[in-house]
Amino acid sequence: MSTTPSAETIATVIKAGSRAPSAHNTQPWRLTPLGSRSYSLWYCLADKLRADPDDRDGMMAMGGFYETLRLSAHAHECDVELTPVIEELADGVSLGSIEFKDRHGPPDPLALSIGERQCNRHEYARRPLPAGLVEALTSLGQLLVSPISVAPLVSKASVLAWKDSRFVRDLDEWTRFDDTSADGMTTDCLQLSKVDQAALKFALRRGRLPGWLARVYATRDVRLTRASSSLVVLTTASRDPLSLFEAGRRLIQSWTLINSVGYSWHPMSIVIDQSTVHQLQDMIDGADPVAIYRVGLTDQDAAWSKRRDIADIVVQR
Ligand SMILES: Cc1cc2nc3c(=O)[nH]c(=O)nc-3n(C[C@H](O)[C@H](O)[C@H](O)COP(=O)(O)O)c2cc1C
Repeated sequence: MSTTPSAETIATVIKAGSRAPSAHNTQPWRLTPLGSRSYSLWYCLADKLRADPDDRDGMMAMGGFYETLRLSAHAHECDVELTPVIEELADGVSLGSIEFKDRHGPPDPLALSIGERQCNRHEYARRPLPAGLVEALTSLGQLLVSPISVAPLVSKASVLAWKDSRFVRDLDEWTRFDDTSADGMTTDCLQLSKVDQAALKFALRRGRLPGWLARVYATRDVRLTRASSSLVVLTTASRDPLSLFEAGRRLIQSWTLINSVGYSWHPMSIVIDQSTVHQLQDMIDGADPVAIYRVGLTDQDAAWSKRRDIADIVVQR
């Protein structure tokens, strides 16, 4: 019986896997040991967002976690394999079991770059994307739309979001007004000035904003959308949990690829969370959009987001 990968390697890979992205940095993934190299992988309902009633973002985060784990395993000369079985739990949804193994064959080329993946919320240059990148994103089931055509939708979605108590309550629960918290969105990652922080605290106290003020708050999202090379829409053929899980894996592959060629990435999920999703769907010939993000070039660095301790991720049941 093989004794590799070692417990140390597995621990290193799990820590690297926990760098995966999740909406509001909720980190909804948990691993429960089943044997020395296998774990049950499950979605923790305590980290579910109010504005994600169907677990679209939650399941994509789970797929993103698995893909980040797999690419990190490749970077450490091993591999991980999922046996998918969806099962409802009292406190979550099990996706199946994963097993750490020796890697046979060459590493995935993205393994070298997975540690560089991050979100950058600065303005980007409006230069077109290189043809090679467009082709790679298209082959991962994504569609490109122009920032100018999406900007009115972002404006509408942002106003709807600021008037939506679910969105504002999620922000209230997951925004961290410090630069050190292990989960949630810290102010350095959100690029919030002192004035921005005061405005956000005001909105959080109110619970939702009146239309006129929502329109003022929405200008930031519109400005950022316009300052992009392109908006990219990730689509899916079905929204069953495993399809969303697979969409999350494609999201990580695209994101890692984008960052590896020096471009930046920032989602605008409100367009899909709000009723604007229907107009977006019309723009992409009826395909089902599950993620939308801006891509472009910036020379401004983003802060690194924080992560929970591994002891809070690897848990006994
Ligand atoms: C499915 C999904 C949806 C997201 N939606 C948004 C969003 O609408 N706005 C945003 O600023 N960030 C969004 N994010 C980015 C997360 O906030 C970010 O990944 C997380 O805070 C961790 O930061 P990092 O990506 O820099 O590691 C989303 C991430 C995922 C995986």
